Amino acid sequence: MKIKKYPENTPSNICGSCHKSEYKKLQTNHTKHSELHCATCHVVHGFIPKCQSCHGLPHSAGLHKKFPNCLACHKDPHNLPMNRKK
Ligand code: HEC
Ligand code: HEC
Ligand code: HEC
Ligand code: HEC
Repeated sequence: MKIKKYPENTPSNICGSCHKSEYKKLQTNHTKHSELHCATCHVVHGFIPKCQSCHGLPHSAGLHKKFPNCLACHKDPHNLPMNRKK
């Protein structure tokens, strides 16, 4: 099956039928990313967004210089370790 484009409001469970682990993480470890559709970030199938495209550089310049990769601390956009709610 070849998927290229889909609307931004494509229900996440449709993506989850193939991408089970990302879907399950977003569902079971609720963060603000859980409220977004998969397609809000992955606007085209296979596209990987940069955190900065939505968040800019939210921390101090020194921190970003020392840790250029957001995921050094934030680990996984589908399963953020911070701000996790029940
Ligand atoms: C029918 C199964 C299927 C569905 C439904 C599906 N995908 Fe995929 N997806 C795949 C397969 C297979 C790959 C890897 C091969 C490829 O790139 O086509 C993939 C690749 C990806 C990748 C890139 C993974 C990487 O390692 O770089 C992302 C991101 C992604 N899909 C997101 C989504 C999102 C978001 C949706 C829902 C809007 C979705 N997919 C729906 C099967 C699916
Ligand atoms: C807040 C934005 C965001 C949302 C929402 C999101 N993703 Fe992702 N996704 C990303 C980023 C960023 C990466 C790259 C992670 C990395 O570099 O390790 C990624 C990577 C992926 C990959 C590649 C494999 C991997 O884990 O690196 C797949 C498949 C994927 N996402 C599927 C999904 C599906 C399915 C959903 C919805 C259930 C979803 N994503 C929701 C941002 C998002
Ligand atoms: C398509 C836009 C988009 C992308 C890409 C994106 N985010 Fe977000 N992120 C959001 C939105 C929207 C929120 C909720 C913001 C709010 O309510 O203030 C959020 C919230 C967060 C939060 C707070 C979580 C919480 O539950 O309080 C963190 C941390 C975060 N993002 C980190 C990242 C990281 C790291 C990446 C890259 C791996 C990333 N985001 C990629 C849109 C995005
Ligand atoms: C050295 C570790 C570290 C790095 C690197 C890092 N962050 Fe963070 N970030 C944190 C911590 C810790 C928090 C939680 C602060 C809190 O709970 O108020 C946070 C919180 C956030 C939040 C939520 C802010 C809010 O108001 O709730 C966002 C969004 C975010 N980071 C985005 C990013 C992005 C984008 C990058 C990369 C450009 C990045 N972070 C790199 C440690 C880091």
